[in-house]
Amino acid sequence: MSNWNPGSWRDKPASQIPEYPDPARLMAIEDTLRAYPPLVFPEEVNALKSDLARVAEGNAFLLQGGDCAESFADFRTDTIRDTFRVLLQMAVVLTFAAACPVVKVGRMAGQFAKPRSSPYEVREGRRLPSYRGDIVNDIAFDHDARTPDPERLLRGYNQAAATINYLRACAQGGFADLHKVHQWNLDFVANSPAVERYRDLADRISEALDFMRACGIGSDATPEIRGTTVHTSHECLLLGYEEALTRHDRTTGLWVDSSAHFPWCGDRTREIGGAHLEFLRGIGNPVAVKVGSNLSADDLLQIIDVLNPANEPGRLTLICRFGAENVSAQLPPLIRAVQREGRTVVWSCDPMHGNTVETAKGLKTRGFDDLMTEIRRFFEVHRTEGSYAGGVHLELTGQNVTECTGGSHAVTEETLASGYHTNCDPRLNANQSLEIAFQIAELLKEERRSA
Ligand code: PEP
Ligand code: CO
Repeated sequence: MSNWNPGSWRDKPASQIPEYPDPARLMAIEDTLRAYPPLVFPEEVNALKSDLARVAEGNAFLLQGGDCAESFADFRTDTIRDTFRVLLQMAVVLTFAAACPVVKVGRMAGQFAKPRSSPYEVREGRRLPSYRGDIVNDIAFDHDARTPDPERLLRGYNQAAATINYLRACAQGGFADLHKVHQWNLDFVANSPAVERYRDLADRISEALDFMRACGIGSDATPEIRGTTVHTSHECLLLGYEEALTRHDRTTGLWVDSSAHFPWCGDRTREIGGAHLEFLRGIGNPVAVKVGSNLSADDLLQIIDVLNPANEPGRLTLICRFGAENVSAQLPPLIRAVQREGRTVVWSCDPMHGNTVETAKGLKTRGFDDLMTEIRRFFEVHRTEGSYAGGVHLELTGQNVTECTGGSHAVTEETLASGYHTNCDPRLNANQSLEIAFQIAELLKEERRSA
């Protein structure tokens, strides 16, 4: 990699990076982080890249989900376990219904930093710096709370470390054994239509497992039944933090950003010639870029040239977030450009960020039907263009929140406030997540049948 080092981004224009009042303290903390243990390992990162290469070929599906922003206050065993569990349930639905391997990635264990559309927030005539996620400042509308504090980087790292430790235990320590498929049902989703369907599917899986055990194939001999692998991802926003956790791997000769398996570049920071693409181009991880309405086909091709010059399958995922109204018109030219240039990418659909609306009471929300419309149109466009709709990217939680409207246990604008807890964007709750998984499974089944 010519002219690249983990700090080469510092010579490029960087947007969305906070200004700290005490730069010397920030540097000291980045030095401390440089000595801390990696959170993920090169072998895992390479394995995920191979899994994503399978997605790019049309032989697997990417499921990525979690909080919009993890928070320090919500750092609890149950929030991590419940989000993991709902991802597991969704993956089982997709795997079983569509007979398709699912690559599971959490927006977890490091998804703290948020890009903002305005650097300031004004309330009743008072102007303070915007909240940028718990790893930067505090959400309270108060001068001290909103001042970026570098100590928060250490707290973010420590929370990410404990979260990934617990996720690994959940994935490999028995909880994720397929024989427990019935027990993953969360209490509060009882009796909803999605849960009925899930119970039915779990019965069929248990039956299949009994049959396999009788044939001599049980969890003892088959690690894929006994446990699973979950990967971590977050927006690669705070480049000083990412740089400090980037390590050289002697065996492969690659630099690996050890803060997460799968970092992505946000829609607001993907400028060509900018710091974020500069950092991402040099790391060996699989990476993703958010693709929104204002990206031209030519600019997309330039981004692909920067991030995946060798056209390595699995290296680059494009996470599309156009909005239900725009996707049918804006996605086809991009797919055609990628096909024309013979580029291999994973196409994933983020139906969340193009469908945010504000209620009369000033709460940000998203309607379940709009999300499904964007996903359905995303699949349709790919089918028409002879391309593969390879994944979804969702903001969700295993908690019983009321942040998105709709779903069969309908959350309405009136009931939104009763369980609205997000620090940032509205998330699907466990019930809505499971329901969306069943609907995506139908689309995936059709896609695979027509392939
Ligand atoms: C996000 O994923 O939370 C986000 C900010 O998305 P985007 O970069 O697509 O706006
Ligand atoms: Co968000």
